[in-house]
Amino acid sequence: MTRLGIPGGISMNTKLLAWIDEMARLCKPDGIHICDGSQSEYEALCRLMIANGTMIRLNAAKRPGSYLCRSDPRDVARVEHRTFICSHNKGDAGPTNNWVDPKEMRETLDRLFDGCMRGRTMYVVPFSMGPLGSPIAHVGVEITDSPYVCVNMRIMTRMGQGVLDLLDGGGDFVPCTHSVGKPLAPGEADVPWPCNPDNLHVAHFPEDREIWSFGSGYGGNALLGKKCFALRIASTMGRDEGWLAEHMLIVGVESPRGEKTYVAAAFPSACGKTNFAMMVPPKGFDGWKIWTVGDDIAWIKPAADGRFHAINPEAGFFGVAPGTGMGTNPNAMAACSRNTIFTNVALTDDGDVWWEGMTDTPPSHLLDWTGKSWTPESGEPAAHPNARFTAPVEQCPSVDPDWENPEGVPISAFIVGGRLSRNAPLVVQAFNWAHGVYLGATMGSEATAAAVGQAAIRRDPFAMLPFCGYNMADYFNHWLNMGRKVKSPPSIFRVNWFRRDEDGKFLWPGYGQNMRVLKWIVDRVRGRAPAIESALGFVPDYEDLYWDAMEYPREKFDALMRVDPAAGVADARSQEELFDRFFDRVPKELLYERELLKSRLWRAPAVWEPAREG
Ligand code: OXD
Ligand code: MN
Repeated sequence: MTRLGIPGGISMNTKLLAWIDEMARLCKPDGIHICDGSQSEYEALCRLMIANGTMIRLNAAKRPGSYLCRSDPRDVARVEHRTFICSHNKGDAGPTNNWVDPKEMRETLDRLFDGCMRGRTMYVVPFSMGPLGSPIAHVGVEITDSPYVCVNMRIMTRMGQGVLDLLDGGGDFVPCTHSVGKPLAPGEADVPWPCNPDNLHVAHFPEDREIWSFGSGYGGNALLGKKCFALRIASTMGRDEGWLAEHMLIVGVESPRGEKTYVAAAFPSACGKTNFAMMVPPKGFDGWKIWTVGDDIAWIKPAADGRFHAINPEAGFFGVAPGTGMGTNPNAMAACSRNTIFTNVALTDDGDVWWEGMTDTPPSHLLDWTGKSWTPESGEPAAHPNARFTAPVEQCPSVDPDWENPEGVPISAFIVGGRLSRNAPLVVQAFNWAHGVYLGATMGSEATAAAVGQAAIRRDPFAMLPFCGYNMADYFNHWLNMGRKVKSPPSIFRVNWFRRDEDGKFLWPGYGQNMRVLKWIVDRVRGRAPAIESALGFVPDYEDLYWDAMEYPREKFDALMRVDPAAGVADARSQEELFDRFFDRVPKELLYERELLKSRLWRAPAVWEPAREG
């Protein structure tokens, strides 16, 4: 039955077999292939896509085992306004999600999926989010008509026969159904990137723990293990079962003495999470090392030792390529140096890839992400701004030796951060857990960084706004409750790398220099760094940060940390826009935190600056 001409996986899980049968009857594919996750299967799928014009094999001398795909220009990113949470009650999805009645959505999906795989193969992709059999991991199965999804899922998750074997032991799985939504009539030739953007639906049924996605083959719309399962469905599982599924990177910070401290950090999309997760400590930090556990998602469960333990549920990076270069992120460049799938980047004349920010000087000629001839004079980016590389985590030189530890790594601090050009200091430490939850709940970014001092703040609580599968007010409450599930909850810090001066210039260099902030955070949680109490939280004085091998004048630091009480109060007031949307569902603690903040700011001097001794 299969088009691959190679053996597939074998399952004896009756629920899985019955579901495959049911989906085949609905989608009416020409054939079924159960993925075993083998290298030969991966290569057969790539050959199929090369023959169909979906993939181009890159120059093996430059980029061994790697491929380029170009998507349909209408299918280049996650589409939030076509993403739905279909809980029984509208209130359980909350005002920040698109809600559709589950009955109505099921009718729509039944219509869309009926016969949607005609002329195609239906692939069954069994995957584990997290190391196979880990007590923190969970299993999903994606049914898809996209071979691109299969090969990406093989990099992004633990995929194949091992998962089927686990399910034979009676385990449960989250069913994820995906179609590009472009059936083929008999004899109809396929296109390189089939999709159906006009009928796009990415639907989640949190109570039934089901995902259905139709019409897109790209990223988070189609690789259902990532945002759909590991965040939207997993966040509801976490709420029900007492754990956290977070849009967070995980890193281990190792000191020259070999002491290791793990932190998990939430930054909104496009705020440099991958760079932070693979940070190279700067000059002055001899013997320090940053170890990468994950760059996007963390599953965090209370463990028997009374601490939170976290895993990266993914096995690959689906990183944004533009802006990634040897200067900004050499570890990411090494990770995608081989065995990588590139999507919507440019192709060099010698069969390698290029994107804006990879090198200072662009090559003199390229084929751009649409396949058109390109020169630096073309006036348009060669790579799509959301071009991606899909690369195995284990290829990252900074990968943590414990990244696959089934017990996870113990988390000592949470970091939350937005992108704000004014009035938000480099770093503050929350006074306690509830205050930290408040800092996370109110974090945000300016809608545009272009107009300094003008842009409105888009609140993005814990960077979860597009990814929380249930009412965000209940999510805040869940965070408050989780602090009671461990002996002493980790400290929560809020950072901002993006503050600018009056001329619009960044005050902080960012990238590797963020290590200085990270060192202070580690020293704080280990009880050995001083701090001063400000209206916003505990902050470092100039001397409390480590400045070796960096010229950074005290006056500039003061500007970086300064808080104008009037602006602080105005910001606290503007949080009403967020909280009011949830009516009385917002936990009282957060409203009290806001009032406490306002009264601290009212009592503060006109401009609060770090205290000086003597
Ligand atoms: C991502 C995102 O792709 O957050 O990771 O959008
Ligand atoms: Mn993300």
